[in-house]
Amino acid sequence: AQNGLLAGRRVVVTAGGTREPLDPVRYLGNRSSGKQGVALAAAAAAAGAQVHLIAGIMEVAAPEGAAGITVERVETAEELHNAVASAGDEADLLLMAAAVADFRPADYTEAKIKKTEDGVDPVIHLQRNPDILSATVRRRAERGTGPTVIVGFAAETGDAANDPLDLAQAKLLRKGCELLVLNRVGEGLVFGQDDTEIHILASFGVQGLLGEADPLHVTGSKQEAARAVVERAGE
Ligand code: C5P
Repeated sequence: AQNGLLAGRRVVVTAGGTREPLDPVRYLGNRSSGKQGVALAAAAAAAGAQVHLIAGIMEVAAPEGAAGITVERVETAEELHNAVASAGDEADLLLMAAAVADFRPADYTEAKIKKTEDGVDPVIHLQRNPDILSATVRRRAERGTGPTVIVGFAAETGDAANDPLDLAQAKLLRKGCELLVLNRVGEGLVFGQDDTEIHILASFGVQGLLGEADPLHVTGSKQEAARAVVERAGE
């Protein structure tokens, strides 16, 4: 089913986490391993696409030299934003699997932050990063051209008052993308693991185009999840 599904299509995948510098030696980061994003790039390439992987900070190796995949490395959310604005806007399919830092230190300190003798500890002020996914959806509407399918990802724990699927449905609407992949996260779930459990939600606009159940529930390896996402996005 995979072979040729995305033949000739340009696919941009973002993967891994971002690293937001505080001073020359320190940063704020997150626990994204990059496994899901790398698996998505491999699945899209296996389906015949020309894949451009924009890789942030990852625990796993980037697929440098893999057939059908080019790799671009970025560190900060701002670098990722610029990379998506150049490559993502020209893609047919954009898969935003990267864990983008929502905030960065408001001030970068040129000199390493030191302990002081006065007993006053530093306070780190944070500033919001752009929402790259929403910005890309907005640019597509303004330009009247851009990726046919934009896929967002959401990691949700849910809580007593909120079912993760409801949170994901709200996020899908808010972000304005065609598909949203929900990852259940929590103790020992998903981050850095090989297995995953996802739900693929479709926007109202594309629901009618899909014959199958919505949302689609997939459990298995991140490779199996990636194949399911690529298949749904290629439909
Ligand atoms: O809002 P939230 O971070 O949960 O949304 C997750 C989705 O939005 C992911 O697809 C992620 O890549 C994207 N995102 C983004 N820019 C941000 C934060 C998240 O593109 N600043």
